[in-house]
Amino acid sequence: MKKNNLLVASLLAASLLWACESKKSESTQGTSDSLKVEQSAFGKVSDSTQATLYTLHNAAGTTVQISDFGGTIVSWTAPDKNGKFDDITLGCDSLSGYQKGVPYFGALIGRYGNRIAKGQFTLDGKAYSLAKNNGPNALHGGLKGFDKVLWKATPIEGEEPSLKLTYTAKDGEEGYPGNLSVEVVYTLQKDNSLKIDYKATTDKATVVNLTNHAYFNLKGGFDSDILDHEVTLNADKFLPVDATLIPTGELKPVAGTPFDFTKPFKIGARINDAKDEQIKFGLGYDHCWVLTDSTKNLKLAASVYEPTSGRVLEVFTTEPAIQFYTGNFLDGTITGKGGKVYKHRFGLCLETQHYPDSPNQAKFPSTVLKPGETYETTTVYKFSVKK
Ligand code: BGC
Repeated sequence: MKKNNLLVASLLAASLLWACESKKSESTQGTSDSLKVEQSAFGKVSDSTQATLYTLHNAAGTTVQISDFGGTIVSWTAPDKNGKFDDITLGCDSLSGYQKGVPYFGALIGRYGNRIAKGQFTLDGKAYSLAKNNGPNALHGGLKGFDKVLWKATPIEGEEPSLKLTYTAKDGEEGYPGNLSVEVVYTLQKDNSLKIDYKATTDKATVVNLTNHAYFNLKGGFDSDILDHEVTLNADKFLPVDATLIPTGELKPVAGTPFDFTKPFKIGARINDAKDEQIKFGLGYDHCWVLTDSTKNLKLAASVYEPTSGRVLEVFTTEPAIQFYTGNFLDGTITGKGGKVYKHRFGLCLETQHYPDSPNQAKFPSTVLKPGETYETTTVYKFSVKK
């Protein structure tokens, strides 16, 4: 078994090396050639539809692969302190892996990211009922959310290549009101950041909360958990939850709790604090932090530092909150890219968003979108190194 793994690993390493070398030879031919958005077949979605994998790369050597299936970030490389590039996001080698129902690896989430209590809400006096796909609650847009649909993709080449994805969710789709036209643009920037611009309009009042569900492991290699990653969250409050992970409505100061990441803390330092009820409910961290800066400016929400690789990830957003999830439900039953098994807490998510269950909580910032309005948010994930 081990020998087989070794063989697979060396074949993979060889193919990666080959890919890097072929890219190098392209880049010597001139920048415009090397910065093309490449396309390859990713698998069959149905008898008549195929998914495509788009590869964006920048002059600094970063590569991001995105599929039109779920708008999913399939791979994302970032350099370590020695300039070695590794894939730092969990995912699957092929479309069929994603179709089997993995927990939203790298996907676009909508129409409503995070939970809505009991899959119900009332808008303009009308009650709406959603599928309960997470215990008693609705999670991440339903049974076939934006992570499981085929988006229309338009690659835009250039020094900062982009992939524009559009999708129109029908009135009543997954129980939500209104035809919702969504546009998401991923742009790989020169400074090794990936910008995600989200836009949506509707023809009937609805609720919207879009995000991306990338799982990061900055060490590279997917051989260990994320407990030694050091996290800072620019948030002085968080949203305590009930046992089903629905916010109680309280905005609780983080000071003096295991939820205080206003200064860098190793994830593992307090994640198993058995005395903390919120840690127990989340089985670790699976909560929404309220950003101290509540403006709609693009501001630094979170940063993560992984000491062995020296990689730093900074998350900037126009959103008011961020869900920090530490892969507590990963349990070793999913085999991901390159045959790597994703064990307990092998990835962390930083999902920028509005608060969970806002449609039922009048005191939370509104997630209602009305005809004539445009939903518009931006999030930037930026990689650098600390030596
Ligand atoms: C949720 C987790 C959930 C995960 C994958 C996160 O956004 O907060 O509770 O398990 O997504 O579904």
